[in-house]
Amino acid sequence: MDENQLKRVLARTQKELKEARKQLRNWQKKSETSSRMLAEKIDELVMSHHILSSTRQTMNLEDRLEIILKGVTIGVGFDRAIILLVDEKEKVLTDGMGSEGIPWKRIQAIRVPLTKEGGILAQAVLKKRTYHIKNASKAEDLNPEILGALKARSFVVTPLVTGGSVVGIIWADNSDSGRPIKKEAIGSLIFLANQAALAIRNIQLYINLEEANKELVRLSNIKSEFVSTVSHELRTPLTSIKEGVLLVLDQTAGKINDTQKRCLTIAQQEVDRLARIINNLLDISRIEAGKVELKKRWVNIAELSKEVLTSLQSQAKDKGIHLRFEPPTDLPKMYIDPDRIKEVFINLLGNALKFTLRRGKITLRIEDKKDEVEVSVSDTGPGIPADQMDKIFDKFHQVEGASFSGTGGTGLGLPIAQKIIEMHQGRIWVKSRLGRGSRFIFTLPKDSQRTKARRQKRGGNI
Ligand SMILES: Nc1ncnc2c1ncn2[C@@H]1O[C@H](COP(=O)(O)OP(=O)(O)OP(=O)(O)O)[C@@H](O)[C@H]1O
Ligand SMILES: [Mg+2]
Repeated sequence: MDENQLKRVLARTQKELKEARKQLRNWQKKSETSSRMLAEKIDELVMSHHILSSTRQTMNLEDRLEIILKGVTIGVGFDRAIILLVDEKEKVLTDGMGSEGIPWKRIQAIRVPLTKEGGILAQAVLKKRTYHIKNASKAEDLNPEILGALKARSFVVTPLVTGGSVVGIIWADNSDSGRPIKKEAIGSLIFLANQAALAIRNIQLYINLEEANKELVRLSNIKSEFVSTVSHELRTPLTSIKEGVLLVLDQTAGKINDTQKRCLTIAQQEVDRLARIINNLLDISRIEAGKVELKKRWVNIAELSKEVLTSLQSQAKDKGIHLRFEPPTDLPKMYIDPDRIKEVFINLLGNALKFTLRRGKITLRIEDKKDEVEVSVSDTGPGIPADQMDKIFDKFHQVEGASFSGTGGTGLGLPIAQKIIEMHQGRIWVKSRLGRGSRFIFTLPKDSQRTKARRQKRGGNI
C-alpha cells in the first residue's frame, strides 16, 4: 500500500469513526429521553396509585382534594394549584381548595357560573377542554375574580372528567418561580386529572349514598312511629266495640232476634279480623324499632305446638282438613320465648289452613337435629311460584292469583315470623312447587342447652 492509498484508508476510517460517534451520541440522547419518559410514566403511575389507593382508605373529600393538589405540585411540579368542583344544582364551579400558600378565603369565595360569563374556567367544563393561557393580560374570557386571587400570568386549566361528566377543574401555574409551563407537565396534569376525577366522583357518590341512607332511616323511623301510634290508638276503642258486640250477642243486654244475631256475628268476625291486623301492624313496628324483648324460659316445644294445634282443630274440621302431628319422643326443652314462638306456629299453621283447599292435609313435624331443632309445616295447598319464594317474607307481599283471592290478611304474618325466628338466632325458609303444596321450615338452635347445663352446674333454677 502506497502513501496515498494509506491516506485514503485513514480518511475513510476517520469519517466512519465520526459517523459512529454521531450515531452513538444520537442513541445516547434517545435513551436519555426514553429513560426520562419512563421515569415520568413511573411517576405518573405512582401518583395515580397514591390517589386511587388513598381513596379506598378514607372517604373524606377534603383529604382527597389535598392529595390531588399535592400530586399537581409535588408530583407534576407546578408551583400552585386549585381545584373547583361543579355544583350540579346551582350550575356553578365552587367549593374551591388551593395548594399551600394560596389564600384560602379568596378561593372559598369563588363561584364561577357555568355559562358564557364564567369565562375560561366555565369553557373548560362545558367544552371538556384543557386550556394553556400563556399571557393572561392578553387573553379574553378570563375570570377577574380568580385572576385577582391568583395573580397568574400564565396558567393551565383542565377539566376533571369521568364517565362523560365533569366533576370540576384543576387550575395550575408556575407564578411563584416564573418557570415556563412545559408540554410534558400539561400531559402529566391531564393524566392526573383523569385519575382524580374518578376518585372525586367515587367519594361524592359515597357521600350522597350515605345521606340518602340516613334520610331513609329517618323516614322509616317516622313511619314505624306513626304506624305504632295509630295501631295503639285503634286498639282501645276496638276492645270496647268487641266487648259491646259480645254483650249484645250473648243476650246479656236483652233478647235479640235471629237477624240481629246474624248481623252481630258478622260484626264480631270483622272486629276480630281488624284486631288481628292492628296487632300485626303493632307487632312488626315494635320489632323493627327494636322495642321487643324476648322473655325466654325453658319450654317443651312439642307441648307448645300441641296447644296451637288444639286451638285450630275446629277450624280444620270445618274445612275437612286432616291435621297430622309427628313429634319425636325425647325432645330436649328449648330456651325460647313461648308466646313469640307460639305466634310463629299460629302464623304458619294459620296460613296452611287458609290456603289449603277442603279435604287437604297439613303436617306439623318436629325433628331433633344435631345442633338445632327443626320444625316444619307442610300442606297440600296451591304452592308458591318460584319467583315469589323470597318475596313472601317481605312486608305486605301476597301472591296474586285465583288460589289466593279472598283469603284476606295483610301480608305481615311471615315477616313477623321471620323476625321472631331470627331474634332466636334461628333460620326460616320455604320449599314449594306450584300446585304441589308448600313446606315452611324453621330451626331453633340448641346452643342454649349449654347455658342450661352451666346453670344446672351452678345450682340455678331452670
Ligand atoms: N302455606 C301457604 N301456601 C301458599 N301460599 C302461602 C302460604 N303461606 C303464605 N303464602 C303466601 O305468602 C303470602 C304472605 O303470607 P303472610 O302470612 O305474610 O300474609 P297473609 O297470610 O296474606 O296475611 P296475614 O298473615 O297478615 O294475615 C300469602 O299472602 C300467600 O300468598
Ligand atoms: Mg299469614
